[in-house]
Amino acid sequence: MKTLLVTGGAGFIGSNFIKYILNKYPDYKVVNYDILTYAGNIMNLQDIESFDNYVFVKGDIRNREAVNQVFKSFDVDMVINFAAESHVDRSIEDPEIFLKTNVLGTQVLLDIAKEYWKSNKNDKYCKEFKEGVKFLQVSTDEVYGSLGETGFFKETTPLMPNSPYSASKASADMIVRAYHETFGIPVNITRCSNNYGPYQFPEKLIPLMIINCIDGKDLPVYGDGMQIRDWLHVSDHCSAIDAVLHDGKIGEVYNVGGNNEKANVEIVKKILNYTGKSEDLIKYVKDRLGHDRRYAIDNTKISRELGWNPLYVFEDGIEETIQWYLSNSEWLLNVLSGDYVKYYEKMYDESM
Ligand code: NAD
Ligand code: TYD
Repeated sequence: MKTLLVTGGAGFIGSNFIKYILNKYPDYKVVNYDILTYAGNIMNLQDIESFDNYVFVKGDIRNREAVNQVFKSFDVDMVINFAAESHVDRSIEDPEIFLKTNVLGTQVLLDIAKEYWKSNKNDKYCKEFKEGVKFLQVSTDEVYGSLGETGFFKETTPLMPNSPYSASKASADMIVRAYHETFGIPVNITRCSNNYGPYQFPEKLIPLMIINCIDGKDLPVYGDGMQIRDWLHVSDHCSAIDAVLHDGKIGEVYNVGGNNEKANVEIVKKILNYTGKSEDLIKYVKDRLGHDRRYAIDNTKISRELGWNPLYVFEDGIEETIQWYLSNSEWLLNVLSGDYVKYYEKMYDESM
């Protein structure tokens, strides 16, 4: 049995990933380690809570003692690091927590994994690691900065992050790379485009626009709304991480995209159209500071080396997603009130 430590598993992508992986590999054990920030919600995992091979531990990736304890208690084989502060607008308001969590938190995880996995614990130069271990860092295409009207991000594109969020993720990628080069720890980095799907906290473009439509509120579109993002369904992202986790060449970076570029305003109009609301709800507001104009991913490497390709058709995926939010008002209410999180905080103790 392999034990996977999924950090940030109560967030949007992490919770989708845990369900995906337990469904595909029922003989794996998953430890979900998450501090439950405003974005973490264990209601996302309600349907697997009772599984014998799933355990939730409330804790901070920056807490060395607690992370060490998790490695020891569960004999962790692989780490998939989703834990992060993930919202660009918040990073513009308050960058510090982004550096603390995304950079220093990643370094703590790497440190503990390195010590726990190396075959000779007394040899500080030991570069031999236990068989089958891996540290997979979940990164973002935003580390590459912004594209003009043409071109695609490749794994070899220089890192040119523009927001405090993307700079913190790029820094984390660099420290992951350095731990591989210096200490030999087996790593992969995945850099994906914008995810959409169920359980995304409603501050990101798609869920925010859906809930504003439900409430009949204005839909705030930054600047001219012609910024381009590549949209990837979260389940396609999960299958890509699965492919890299199991077959990714050690030390390599893999880009993951949906082959699906859309202007923001196009997405907003689609949501209005599906929910039967008027385009008069669109409100063009002041642009985001340092707003990246266009992201687009070249998937050639992951497709050629690992045989992965996105399967979702965007038209189906967005309709399913809108429908999911319309049908899950209880989830929305809980997420927005934070009551559910507080309720569970009483049940789980960081000290285990
Ligand atoms: P999210 O904000 O929904 O979830 C992040 C999770 O991390 C939350 O459950 C939160 O409680 C947890 N967390 C935060 N700080 C922590 C800490 N110190 N210790 C333990 N847990 C902590 O984010 P998401 O959208 O699911 O993104 C997951 C990962 O994927 C992030 O690393 C993000 O940078 C990356 N990513 C996301 C997207 C996207 O479109 N959502 C795109 C590219 C990359
Ligand atoms: P977002 O979902 O925050 O993801 P990211 O900034 O990581 O790409 O934003 C997606 C795009 O939508 C981005 O170009 C900013 C834009 N946007 C709006 O126009 N209005 C909004 O209210 C939000 C949250 C985003």
